[in-house]
Amino acid sequence: MYRTNTCGEIRISDVGKQVTLAGWVQRVRKMGGMTFVDLRDRYGLTQLVFNEATDKELCDSANKLGREFCVQVCGEVSERENKNKNIPTGDIEIKVAKLNVLSESMTPPFTIEDQTDGGDDIRMKYRYLDLRRTPVRSNLELRHRMTILIRNFLDAQNFIEVETPILIGSTPEGARDFVVPSRMNPGQFYALPQSPQTLKQLLMVSGFDRYFQIAKCFRDEDLRADRQPEFTQIDCEMSFVDQEDVLDIFEGMSRHLFKEVLGVELPEKLPQMTWHDAMRLYGSDKPDLRFGMEFVELDDVLKGTGTFPVFNDAAYIGGICVPGCANYSRKQLDELTDFVKRPQVGAKGLVYVKYNEDGTVKTSIDKFYTPDVWANLKTKVGAKDGDLVLVMSGENANKTRVQLSTLRLEMGDRLGLRDKNKFECLWIVDFPLFEWSDEEQRLMSTHHPFTMPNPDDIPLLEDHPEKVRAKAYDFVCNGVELGGGSLRIHDGKLQEKMFRILGFTPEKAMAQFGFLINAFKYGAPPHGGIAFGLDRFVSILAGLDSIRDCIAFPKNNSGRDVMLDAPSELDDKQLDELMLKVDIHQEK
Ligand code: AMO
Repeated sequence: MYRTNTCGEIRISDVGKQVTLAGWVQRVRKMGGMTFVDLRDRYGLTQLVFNEATDKELCDSANKLGREFCVQVCGEVSERENKNKNIPTGDIEIKVAKLNVLSESMTPPFTIEDQTDGGDDIRMKYRYLDLRRTPVRSNLELRHRMTILIRNFLDAQNFIEVETPILIGSTPEGARDFVVPSRMNPGQFYALPQSPQTLKQLLMVSGFDRYFQIAKCFRDEDLRADRQPEFTQIDCEMSFVDQEDVLDIFEGMSRHLFKEVLGVELPEKLPQMTWHDAMRLYGSDKPDLRFGMEFVELDDVLKGTGTFPVFNDAAYIGGICVPGCANYSRKQLDELTDFVKRPQVGAKGLVYVKYNEDGTVKTSIDKFYTPDVWANLKTKVGAKDGDLVLVMSGENANKTRVQLSTLRLEMGDRLGLRDKNKFECLWIVDFPLFEWSDEEQRLMSTHHPFTMPNPDDIPLLEDHPEKVRAKAYDFVCNGVELGGGSLRIHDGKLQEKMFRILGFTPEKAMAQFGFLINAFKYGAPPHGGIAFGLDRFVSILAGLDSIRDCIAFPKNNSGRDVMLDAPSELDDKQLDELMLKVDIHQEK
């Protein structure tokens, strides 16, 4: 038997027992005639002790152990003299009688302890070693636990898990596809699923009325802290449901996860905010409601009431009231101006209005306005003495709102208002069905082309498509989009109309989605669904800054797996088999 116990379970009540443990050497400390070794496995740490006076040879062997050697030891559990209250096994140690080195280790490239000296790149390269560290491992343990909770919850609600294929054709989720060449069909390519969207809809046509899948999805898009090219969805679809039915079930699932994992009770009914209000009040379709600072539109206060040309020419002027920050120094305000002018934010500038504690007002554009304007502004934004109002304007209202939103989040961070132990979840509803793409010069689906228009807006489809609301919804928590879904079109005629508005010719629609259009001719049930990002859900509950930390083998920001050194070139033989020739063009 390799072990009788794990390194995390032995307690004071076990004193006197003979045990065998196996694990990795975290540390070796020599103190006088004694040698102490911290032995680690997945479950914890146990202190081993070797005594030179009782067994010199054994103690000499212990002194030769290096970090990360994999060893097996037998010995007696005894009470420690110097107890360690910080670990569950801190009351005991093992008086080792036998030591067996199972496998030696080279010196690891970074310290494998909770606090490590390894930078990001080196830890990614040796990810299998990083995964020995408790903080990383515990994220994966949480991920496992959440997956079990989700499966059990959905199973109890009659959902059936069905696997859908990975080698498929293109799925339209708005990102680029990853493609795979087919050897048996030279010159042809599979696409990896951006999501199992069309397949789960086909399962509804098949009558599986409640489907789910913990599904791998692939999207070739620019990476950020909450985006990986390969990620996992909790993908779900239901038949014979209305929007509220879907929201009810998945509010239930989310409430269950928050309760079981963190002991946090979400409200019985989550708030719903229209997309329009979210944009108007927060400049974002994923507002962080852990703090206020809602936008106030200031056109009526600042446009045409003074001589500041920037405001007089603006299409939108908006402000946020930052409580208690009137005492911000010149340097702090300059920093904020630089912040909004960074290319990532893209604003031209920032105006501040300080309502000082002594009742005086100081602004960055004093000379353009009379004091009564600042008094009006104070009333309009609900500022008190001591508050700072930050104002931004621009020629494009939506763009300016997004810039102001970035500033709002920055102020939330600076004031410590984005507490990781506080959770504010809500649904965003009534998304616009279409959005204009400057790049493509055409209307695109905001969600995807199978999303049901709001029945009240169907008459607007032909003439005012931009005004049509979708039966689509996002689940947002702390400013992160954790999930998104919609009711789907199940009427072939309406689907054809949608394709037409999206600029597909009937032939192109048929070529790309003929399988779905045809399936809908065989008694398609009304249906709808949602997909949550599992990586994002785990990260929120674990308080992580990046979803990378809950993925066993993630890609870096350039989409590379530095451990496997992928992607890589194919050798000539593989290219020959695929009948492919690589000819890399310089980007024009
Ligand atoms: P959507 O594109 O909104 O919807 O994706 C659903 C959820 O998946 C997560 N997600 C990601 N997570 C990590 N990295 C990424 N690159 C990434 N992209 C998306 C997000 C998001 O909310 N088929 C539809 C769902 C439906 O309509 O049922 C879909 O995929 O948490």
